[in-house]
Amino acid sequence: VNFRSDNVSGASPEIVEAIARANRDFATSYGDDDVTARLRRRCCELFETEVDVVPVVTGTAANALSIASITPPWGVAFAHTHAHMLRDEWNAPEFFSGARVVPVRAAAPTLTAGELRAAIDDVLASDVGVPSSVTVTQASEAGTVYRVDDLQAISAERSRGDVHLAMHMDGARFANAIAFLRCAPADVTWRAGVDLMSFGATKNGAAGAEMIVIFRRELAAEVRHRARRAGHRASKMRFVSAQLEAYLADDLWLRNARHANAMAARLAAEVSALHPVEANSVFMRIPDDLAQRLQDAGFRFTKWGIFGKDVYRFVCSWQTDEKHVDSLIQALK
Ligand SMILES: Cc1ncc(COP(=O)(O)O)c(C=O)c1O
Repeated sequence: VNFRSDNVSGASPEIVEAIARANRDFATSYGDDDVTARLRRRCCELFETEVDVVPVVTGTAANALSIASITPPWGVAFAHTHAHMLRDEWNAPEFFSGARVVPVRAAAPTLTAGELRAAIDDVLASDVGVPSSVTVTQASEAGTVYRVDDLQAISAERSRGDVHLAMHMDGARFANAIAFLRCAPADVTWRAGVDLMSFGATKNGAAGAEMIVIFRRELAAEVRHRARRAGHRASKMRFVSAQLEAYLADDLWLRNARHANAMAARLAAEVSALHPVEANSVFMRIPDDLAQRLQDAGFRFTKWGIFGKDVYRFVCSWQTDEKHVDSLIQALK
């Protein structure tokens, strides 16, 4: 039973069928196809505003291309110390931007406006570079969720005096956050100041599809040019777009996320979780010998050192079912 990540799951049948449907005819290449056009229109509807959309196949590409488009080579991008961008992307955002990503020390797994302010002041005091952007992860790497107010406060803090930071959201688990918040996607993105976001689908039911959703549309040309230069302009983009279109159709993205969140909540109700379980991840302190016995019994999960020496991460997905969770609870007991 595999709780290592949500991307150990397969793809939802609706998404596999959408790939097969996109396979029937010729289609114009490099994103000038009907599916990609429909996907953009669907995103405009979903976000209640005109947006541009650049489909890519990894979250790292979405993050790195986004940061590069809002941070000049002499700039500084601010990210929570836990940010995937800082911990797991092997400097891809720095590589594509040439900028420095500066970790913001924070008390919780989400940033506060005050913590961002302190980091900006520190960068200004030491003259590291020009403060240019901030990124927030929604849902956070600890499975917690920014509320509308939190994002508005961060957004208000990013423009003071000579400083103006562009705002990016790493929404690798955006669906899980919206399933928890039950708010309009616009409320926690552009209405709260987000300029562009990485909107994930792979972890929550796609086979391999993410998209950069651009709210500040003057950024769109640069994002596209950067995607092309970086080798992220898929020639058969229709297959990526078809996954995303199916993901957003009939609320599949929310149905999958609600299920994943519910499975995490089911687990959290029986164990003592390290962080509030608001999305689909549960972090637990487990003695090494018990962790080994669980592994020996066939359970798969990941040691998560940044939260402590004996902390492990269990992630539920759209494919995790109650039996999986209950067998883990039984084994732990
Ligand atoms: C919060 C977050 N952002 C971005 C990514 C990057 O996704 P990918 O592995 O597709 O590059 C991940 C993947 O684990 C993630 O957890």
